[in-house]
Amino acid sequence: MRHLLSPLDLSVEEIDGLIDVAKKIEKNPKAFRHVADGERLATLFYEPSTRTRLSFESAMLNLGGTVIGFSGASNSSASKGETVADTVRVVGCYSTIIAMRHHKEGAPMVASQFSPVPIINAGDGGHQHPTQTLTDLLTIAREKGRLDHLTIGLCGDLKFGRTVHSLITALVRYPGVKFVCVSPEELRLPDFVREDVLEKNHVPYKEVDNLEDVMPELDILYMTRVQRERFFNEEDYLRLRDRYILDGEKMKLAPQNMIVLHPLPRVNEISLEVDNDPRAMYFKQAQYGVYIRMALIMFLLGLEVPEV
Ligand code: NCD
Repeated sequence: MRHLLSPLDLSVEEIDGLIDVAKKIEKNPKAFRHVADGERLATLFYEPSTRTRLSFESAMLNLGGTVIGFSGASNSSASKGETVADTVRVVGCYSTIIAMRHHKEGAPMVASQFSPVPIINAGDGGHQHPTQTLTDLLTIAREKGRLDHLTIGLCGDLKFGRTVHSLITALVRYPGVKFVCVSPEELRLPDFVREDVLEKNHVPYKEVDNLEDVMPELDILYMTRVQRERFFNEEDYLRLRDRYILDGEKMKLAPQNMIVLHPLPRVNEISLEVDNDPRAMYFKQAQYGVYIRMALIMFLLGLEVPEV
């Protein structure tokens, strides 16, 4: 049985395979309507979510499967003190695959040790978010045509932003990838990414605090929200939240073929005028998220890919 806890749980070849299936789904979604007949996804979301949970549910429904689940720990037996281990042992009796989001780093990993069905990490605290990364990789593959030889700017909250941690972890395996990390000093990458991933793999990167200066170098600009819920005090959040605002003026400094990604939700960090720029890909990215989650569910359940 396979789980997806970190992007490294999939080899580069397996990720290529998922991207190929997602492209097939995009071209011919109808051919996939009954692939997961009889399968059931449970979404156990202990933390707020719109996109991730609904895109998982859409993915399973698009494949002909069914969905159950809860959103918000207060609606579940977690509020009575039940452990994650017990919850998945039980929910594994009602479902054939589980997607879990949890505020505690490592909770999906614990779940995977007790679950009778595959566990997908749908975001664990400030740690990892591998299915957002698969979404990002499909978006990059479709919009840039490759996953190698790219300079990727990551801007905003690189300390708590789990989407950034997972994206870096996945991309260091492709040749010619470079990172430009744009953040205030306090929100720089944590050591488990800078040292254990970037430095260990000898991947070129720099850390800067000015976005304008580096715009011309970028193939991709990945904007992120300052993760308010992970701050220890509100004052620091208020001081840092509007440090970077991508607007039309800054977009003038970017190459014509640069693309802008954002895992969403956006707060202030991208002004609305950028939405009409053809380089803005964040809403398309949300659509790609459904295709790649369909491909992932098929992969983890060992379902056959229809001929199209
Ligand atoms: C992200 C997350 O939950 O980490 N959202 C998402 O899954 N699309 C990013 C965020 O909340 O800022």
